[in-house]
Amino acid sequence: MLETTIKKVLVTEEEICVKSQELGQLLTMEYADKNPLMVAILKGSIPFFAELTKRMGTHIEMDFMVVSSYHGGTQSSGEVKMIKDLDTAVEGRNVIIVEDIIDTGRTLLYLKELLLHRKAKSVKIVTLVDKPEGRVVEIDADYVGFTLPNEFLVGFGLDYDEHYRNLPYIGVLKEEVYQTNV
Ligand code: PRP
Ligand code: MN
Ligand code: MG
Repeated sequence: MLETTIKKVLVTEEEICVKSQELGQLLTMEYADKNPLMVAILKGSIPFFAELTKRMGTHIEMDFMVVSSYHGGTQSSGEVKMIKDLDTAVEGRNVIIVEDIIDTGRTLLYLKELLLHRKAKSVKIVTLVDKPEGRVVEIDADYVGFTLPNEFLVGFGLDYDEHYRNLPYIGVLKEEVYQTNV
């Protein structure tokens, strides 16, 4: 069973729902008539991207990038690998990068620099979770759902070895899961 391996829940489904609504309303106001390009960073951002974009009451476009730096474990590899690029040209566009989590900051620094290099008009970052204690490079999100302590989190897109993304809340795994395999 999936749920029995969770030690504690840090953010409930209801809290994620309410926060996504708030962020969606804020972005709706700030991006009214700007036709922002909302970029989901797969795979982790999928649940939050869906939750957030349905709360936006203005025209947006969607595109997707696949990048990976964790390669299954609990530690960042330090190397961000691009697996799938955008289909859309970003030159002159107002881009909103949507992430599940900012931890070391390496993924978002890489992405932000890449999009600015491609001459995006603006690049802003919205993340469901910020773990400021984990930061090793200098970058911050413009919009943060929840600021959480330095624990290994799973759920709502966040995975351990590709599992747990489908949990409807954010939680912490029991230690024994890291020793055995799921
Ligand atoms: C995770 C997460 C963020 C990134 C954050 O992705 O979804 O994209 O790491 O970590 P950082 O701030 O230390 O760079 P991951 O590489 O695990 O790929 P995934 O989204 O497919 O799980
Ligand atoms: Mn990711
Ligand atoms: Mg991952």
